[in-house]
Amino acid sequence: TTHKLFLLPGDGIGPEVMAEVEKIIALMNERRGRPFEIEKGLVGGSAYDAHGVAISEDDMARALSADAVLMAAVGGPKWDGVPYDVRPESGLLRLRKDLGLFANLRPAICYPALADASSLKRELVEGLDMLIVRELTGGVYFGEPKEIVDLGGGQKRAIDTQVYDTSEIERIARVAFELARTRRGAVTSMEKRNVMKSGVLWNEVVTRVHRDEYADVSLSHMLADAGGMQIVRRPKQFDVILTDNLFGDLLSDIAAMLTGSLGILPSASLGAVDAATGSRRALYEPVHGSAPDIAGQGIANPVAMIASFAMGLRYSFGMIREADALEMAIAEVLESGVRTADVAAGGATASTAMMGDAVAKAFAAK
Ligand code: NAI
Ligand code: MG
Repeated sequence: TTHKLFLLPGDGIGPEVMAEVEKIIALMNERRGRPFEIEKGLVGGSAYDAHGVAISEDDMARALSADAVLMAAVGGPKWDGVPYDVRPESGLLRLRKDLGLFANLRPAICYPALADASSLKRELVEGLDMLIVRELTGGVYFGEPKEIVDLGGGQKRAIDTQVYDTSEIERIARVAFELARTRRGAVTSMEKRNVMKSGVLWNEVVTRVHRDEYADVSLSHMLADAGGMQIVRRPKQFDVILTDNLFGDLLSDIAAMLTGSLGILPSASLGAVDAATGSRRALYEPVHGSAPDIAGQGIANPVAMIASFAMGLRYSFGMIREADALEMAIAEVLESGVRTADVAAGGATASTAMMGDAVAKAFAAK
């Protein structure tokens, strides 16, 4: 079968890091009889410059018909003044919404070669491999009412509302349990049931889904604040962390600091399984932004983008062996000392293209 990949290089360093993934894809197509069919589109500022919108209807349609979307990053000072509803980020928000991407997967993996760049001591992070599963379309970022009310007398009241329905908690819980089955079989659910009704329901639904459908996986619960503490105290105790939109935003940024650099962190966002095709809508993207400060210089680290593609191989295409090989190739190249500036304490030894070539070569040798 052919897998349809839709590439959105975006802005800033986006096209530079995407070019390195394209090398890997070309290599796989050469060796294994064209598994990937590629289309490319525009998102963010580059789409605004071409079409006056952050993503065209044409490209939205192509994203919807693809098996997976691979996106780099959007934004930059060039578009600071564009109207709010067509600002670069709105392209990403539209993609998330129309693809129904409710599950955000943020791995925190510490490559041994980068353990000394972690915010924690080497022995605490070496071999770290945890996965944060964050609910992405519900909770306090979207709940109504959401407003600022004028109370008069110079006083205002800001209102955000945390809302979760049973069905929203069930589907994100299932994603976490399914993923745990492919890993070390342990889920830690984090909420604040001691002070939030949404935490009470979250805990209740996760416990029930576990008991009825995933009794083979181990489940534990932590209050999210204590969980944050544990992530920096003893991060290797975690396999899969299951949490809501707000706590997931915070906890995944904290976990990112354990790993060494923004330039190596991938992410995946998954939607519901399509009943007709049995496949899941998915978007893979690095955690970093468009890095306008280094764009155009050929020095950006392509590892986050390449690792995002590896997640695509794993979660969209079931190409587990290839995903493992690509992640191992990245680890080997970093270990060998080939490094871009962001992960090289003693100065860069590689450009974006050299890093990508080295990973492609190590991958090809597997
Ligand atoms: P950023 O992630 O683009 O950059 C932060 C710092 O990390 C910069 O010093 C940058 O040079 C460095 N960095 C980031 N990725 C790197 C890589 N692959 N290799 C080497 N160094 C790297 O975040 P920042 O500066 O806050 O935002 C820049 C622009 O990106 C803004 O317009 C922002 O809105 C946008 N952005 C877009 C995101 C997305 O498309 N998902 C996510 C975050 C920011
Ligand atoms: Mg964030």
